[in-house]
Amino acid sequence: MSAEKQQHPMDLQEPDPTGNPSPAIAKLSIDGKTIDLPVVTGTEQEKGVDITKLRAQTGAVTIDPGFANTASCLSDITFLDGERGILRYRGVPIEELAEHATYTDTAYLLIHGNLAPQRELDQFSGRINQKVNLPAGLEKFYDCFPKGTHPMAMLSAMAAALSGSYPALLNPTPTREEIDEVIVTLLGQFPTLCAYGYRKGQGLSLIPPRQDLAGVASFLHMMNGRPGDQQDPNPVAVNALRKILILHADHEQNCSTSTVRLVGSSRANAFVSIASGVAALWGPLHGGANQAVIEMLEQIRADGGEFSKFIRMAKDKDSGFRMMGFGHRVYKNFDPRARILKASCDEVLGKLGIHDPLLDLAKQLEAAALKDDYFVSRKLYPNVDFYSGIILRALGIPTEQFTVIFALGRLAGWLAHWKEMLESPGFRIGRPRQIYTGPTQRRFVRVAQRG
Ligand code: ACO
Repeated sequence: MSAEKQQHPMDLQEPDPTGNPSPAIAKLSIDGKTIDLPVVTGTEQEKGVDITKLRAQTGAVTIDPGFANTASCLSDITFLDGERGILRYRGVPIEELAEHATYTDTAYLLIHGNLAPQRELDQFSGRINQKVNLPAGLEKFYDCFPKGTHPMAMLSAMAAALSGSYPALLNPTPTREEIDEVIVTLLGQFPTLCAYGYRKGQGLSLIPPRQDLAGVASFLHMMNGRPGDQQDPNPVAVNALRKILILHADHEQNCSTSTVRLVGSSRANAFVSIASGVAALWGPLHGGANQAVIEMLEQIRADGGEFSKFIRMAKDKDSGFRMMGFGHRVYKNFDPRARILKASCDEVLGKLGIHDPLLDLAKQLEAAALKDDYFVSRKLYPNVDFYSGIILRALGIPTEQFTVIFALGRLAGWLAHWKEMLESPGFRIGRPRQIYTGPTQRRFVRVAQRG
């Protein structure tokens, strides 16, 4: 596993990392002028045309709506191959992590780049464990949210509010020690913020974290325990949630991670960078899909379980309806996380002795969609959000809280990317260009009222 510093595209004009002796070149002709553009090859042979000097050499920029063909950075953190359904954190397959790792192993791996020996892991989790209680006075903030405020709004606001309690961790050019400190601070505080948002939103009393429990178990205790309860959460539930958090921990340059990087690139502090990641995750096209899937399945059930009508609606562009939990920008064969979670659904519900009719419905819907040419031809498969909600329901987590669970898992990835970006030698503020298509220069004339 490489712990070497990443290079900036500008520095990659020497022999590429694959050992290819002569650097690859792409040629671009524009307005009768041809220029050479270096081609960067990653460790998994992915190729990228380095256009960092394009505008200086030609005056032109590239256009790529939705950044579907744009690599915004070089990254050592996560590799995914959407065609082959591969996802690896720092080279380790997601299947192995989901089976054998703790969330702390995974967070350490993502953030620091290596699987740590036990002593280092103990120090890491010990430091996180010291940060699980919210700073004095912060709990009162929850009382200011109007009734019915979505827990993701609370989480984003509370993550930003933490910056007020940690003035020593707001340095725009943080040292390595300050980066480590803010990372363990956020990893410690986040589960508490997630659970408190839920309890306050439901008008329930707060249950403080238990430092004698590992993070996932302590989180479930804060969510569903009773005040003063010393009974440990069900290990089946702890293991199921551990798996979900690991599967959500990183996914390279997705919408929320790119947001964290973009906000952090202005040298805004880690608290507000993470708060902005939470906001980006909330949308139903991203992390909000896990809530939307359950709402969709409930709607189908309330409609008599006749899902073919919903498949028809999903295919009709005018309906405004999409099959939630289906499709992915990058996965065009299968989402390896969805496979793991589908198997996990059966196992967890079986062990907990729960029969959820929504699981039967989800399986029927998946089978029907995967026989339909609309979904097959567009390579639309169930994504991570399709089955995760059914497990979360079985753990007694309310639908509104699902995206918060996603955020809790993704925190490690956000922090890993924030750190990698700040430590990158090619660090620059993120600032895309545009092609202006509005009116050319015109005069200011006050418009006379008609009629
Ligand atoms: N239901 C019906 N049609 C769909 C769906 C869907 N869920 N997803 C994509 N399509 C169709 C589009 O209408 C488009 O059809 P067309 O070629 O006839 O115009 C084609 O498939 C390609 O879709 P795009 O929207 O261009 O794909 P994009 O990569 O931009 O979007 C996204 C990916 C946002 C995930 C999309 O598939 C979607 O909206 N899915 C539902 C929401 C969802 O589950 N989001 C969670 C994603 S995973 C995550 O973020 C953790």
